[in-house]
Amino acid sequence: MQLSSVSPKLLLQLCISTIHCIFARFFSKVCSWTAGARRGSASAVSAAADSKPNRSEDQDATTPTSVNYHFTRKCNYKCGFCFHTAKTSFVLPLEEAKRGLKLLKDSGMEKINFSGGEPFLHEKGDFLGKMVQFCKQDLQLPSVSIVSNGSMIKEKWFQKYGDYLDILAISCDSFDEDTNQLIGRAQGKKSHLDNLYKIRTWCQQYKVAFKINSVINTFNIEEDMTEQIVELNPVRWKVFQCLLIDGENAGEAALREAERFVISDQQFQEFLDRHSGVSCLVPESNEKMRNSYLILDEYMRFLDCREGRKDPSKSILDVGVKEAICFSGFDEKMFFKRGGKYLWSKADMKLEW
Ligand SMILES: C[S@@+](CC[C@H](N)C(=O)[O-])C[C@H]1O[C@@H](n2cnc3c(N)ncnc32)[C@H](O)[C@@H]1O
Ligand code: SF4
Repeated sequence: MQLSSVSPKLLLQLCISTIHCIFARFFSKVCSWTAGARRGSASAVSAAADSKPNRSEDQDATTPTSVNYHFTRKCNYKCGFCFHTAKTSFVLPLEEAKRGLKLLKDSGMEKINFSGGEPFLHEKGDFLGKMVQFCKQDLQLPSVSIVSNGSMIKEKWFQKYGDYLDILAISCDSFDEDTNQLIGRAQGKKSHLDNLYKIRTWCQQYKVAFKINSVINTFNIEEDMTEQIVELNPVRWKVFQCLLIDGENAGEAALREAERFVISDQQFQEFLDRHSGVSCLVPESNEKMRNSYLILDEYMRFLDCREGRKDPSKSILDVGVKEAICFSGFDEKMFFKRGGKYLWSKADMKLEW
């Protein structure tokens, strides 16, 4: 068909339909580009949305890797600086305590440390033994440990429960019996040190790693403990700078007044310098100590020490670990900085028993 033979009207229609076609193609391309872009950004958003809960869970949620369960506040000693005092006599029923321990294990707990008060006091250590056995045998926790003043431990306990225990820490602030008496680290006139040495032998005999905790305060600040610590050869010697906690050992509502025990950072450093030859020494200044422990009280509430007192969360038995732990005040970075994660299963320690 020749253009000259086409009527102007038809020619106009042809032009309009061609332009229409070009625009239609153009718009369809634009639509597919924007749809693609939208799809792309939507999938990027959804990918971000998919990954965000995990990422933020990893980043924000604290894992209760290592937990200190102060299941009782009662004690037979009267250490004048004590920062976990007998404000209640409550202890959970065993099955409830086990339920809480299982919740912690399901949330990532690897190490449990039983503390107090004096953990061997309740039911003469049987309650503690049953929890230790449950944590090792049923929950298969890599590390189960206890901190005790050592005065209530009997050999029978090791025979029954020793297999399930990785580490036993005994607190000893002085190798001078009179100083222990002055501090209140004693029951009546009984020797604290005799117990310490006896337990050291049992730990060797029943294959439990032996540890020592010492609180450095105005009464023992001048002491040199090198010889005795080297002889006792603990896997770790934790050396704490005496810490004040409002409502526990300082302030109005407190059951102890520990101000007279407090030492300066410089005094603490001098003590550390004097013992620099002791390789198992692990120092813990007030700064390192304050927020680097996950502490559960007798109701299984996390205790937040950020404000210099122990503010409780709700119980993990009521709201679960994830919700309660948000109120723990736990500083995970400081936990790692103070060496909170170490070789804590006795199976990995390669000890000479
Ligand atoms: C509260 S006690 C409970 C366990 C046990 N009754 C004992 O004394 O080992 C746990 C640890 O905290 C330490 N401790 C107590 N009061 C302290 C304080 N004011 N500053 C630093 N550590 C303290 C104890 O010496 C012990 O090693
Ligand atoms: S620090 Fe002393 S008073 Fe406090 S719980 Fe331990 S043994 Fe008892």
